[in-house]
Amino acid sequence: MPRSADRPERTVRIEQLPGEEVAVTAGDRRFVVAAACPHRKGRMAYAHVNPVTLRITCPLHRSTYDLATGCRVSGPATGELPVRAEP
Ligand code: FES
Repeated sequence: MPRSADRPERTVRIEQLPGEEVAVTAGDRRFVVAAACPHRKGRMAYAHVNPVTLRITCPLHRSTYDLATGCRVSGPATGELPVRAEP
């Protein structure tokens, strides 16, 4: 289900794609990330996205990843979140 912030440039949308990917749109940026968190398979379709910092937080144990790189920023995960930027 799409979620929006109060300002259009900060709109966040998360969509489950066919297969094991999730599309994340934050303002005018779009990323495709793995549908399952690398920690314990939390469903990233239910993640929280900060459209200002471009960080995504897993709903299960709250590991946070940089959307641009997939690098873990905080939380119990030790791996990176597979991510790619869409044009
Ligand atoms: S499953 Fe995502 S942080 Fe644990």
